[in-house]
Amino acid sequence: MPVHYTELGLVNTKELFQKANEGKYAIPGFNFNNMEQLQAIIMACVECNSPVILQISKGARQYANQTLLRYMVPGAVQMAREMGSNIPIVLNLDHGDSFELCKSCIDNGFSNVMIDGSHLPYEENVALTRKVVEYAHDHGVTVEGELGVLAGIEEHVVAERSHYTRPEEVEDFVARTGVDSLAISIGTSHGAYKFKLKPGEPFPELRFDILEEVQRRLPGFPIVLHGASSVLQEYVDIINKYGGKLENTAGVPEDQIRKAIQLGVRKVNIDSDGRLVFTAMVRKYLAEHPEEFDPRKYLGPAREELKKMYIEKCKLLGSAGKA
Ligand code: G3H
Ligand code: 13P
Ligand code: ZN
Repeated sequence: MPVHYTELGLVNTKELFQKANEGKYAIPGFNFNNMEQLQAIIMACVECNSPVILQISKGARQYANQTLLRYMVPGAVQMAREMGSNIPIVLNLDHGDSFELCKSCIDNGFSNVMIDGSHLPYEENVALTRKVVEYAHDHGVTVEGELGVLAGIEEHVVAERSHYTRPEEVEDFVARTGVDSLAISIGTSHGAYKFKLKPGEPFPELRFDILEEVQRRLPGFPIVLHGASSVLQEYVDIINKYGGKLENTAGVPEDQIRKAIQLGVRKVNIDSDGRLVFTAMVRKYLAEHPEEFDPRKYLGPAREELKKMYIEKCKLLGSAGKA
């Protein structure tokens, strides 16, 4: 049965980005695949009074079942309200890859969809994005597009294969597609292996010159930074201490996230840091309590630690206190 996002207590991104522009902060885009992640995100954003964009990828839909996820979200909204909070909550399809997928999400209560045509030739990206925007806007749903290719969606793919966003294409793309926000490629990539660093080598600078040029051409237009996990070393260390094997991981330093926000980034996507926290805490708990087999015992502490991490992210992004 089709449902409109307003019936689920959700909002689109329009007003959130307007306020974020005025206040020069970014809204978190946090991915989730299961109940504990969703609880942690909501509890964190309620506690620090931050607006939030909940993100479901195609893979998450396949993993958790699209119908179940769709029913979990109004539950999460209701939970926030019962906690006495009125934080704005957006439900976003992350990296939608076809019109049909975006349409299905719009028909099933999503309030924002990302259509990622970044791998397509430019004109095909424009045409696909335009088609999604037309359907979405008819339903009051906002749309994120993407220009420029981030290196590998899969982990272990290093950043060399990205191609950066060309600022000269941005105005044309936004004008012809009507997108409400735009993901750009300035050197980040997805996963826990964003940069290939030798020991002691400093983190490379993101291409802030591209962001500056985009801002010059489209002042105030909401820009989205994907692949923005910092790959928090303390959790990588816990994972490795308790039997894991994550080597040569590297993420985006926090000062570079702050700088990107100063230069117009209004949405920051974080998934991998949540995965690392979750895995670290589960590994630690099970290693320290080999007799335990009740999932609540090891998922509970993971959820609690995740919540703390999300609060820190909201503070970093400046969205804490802005709901
Ligand atoms: O962009 C990638 C997100 O982290 C989602 O990842 O496709 O493995 O769910 P996923
Ligand atoms: P990370 O892998 O850096 O967390 O990026 C997540 C993302 O961009 C989701 O779309
Ligand atoms: Zn992404």
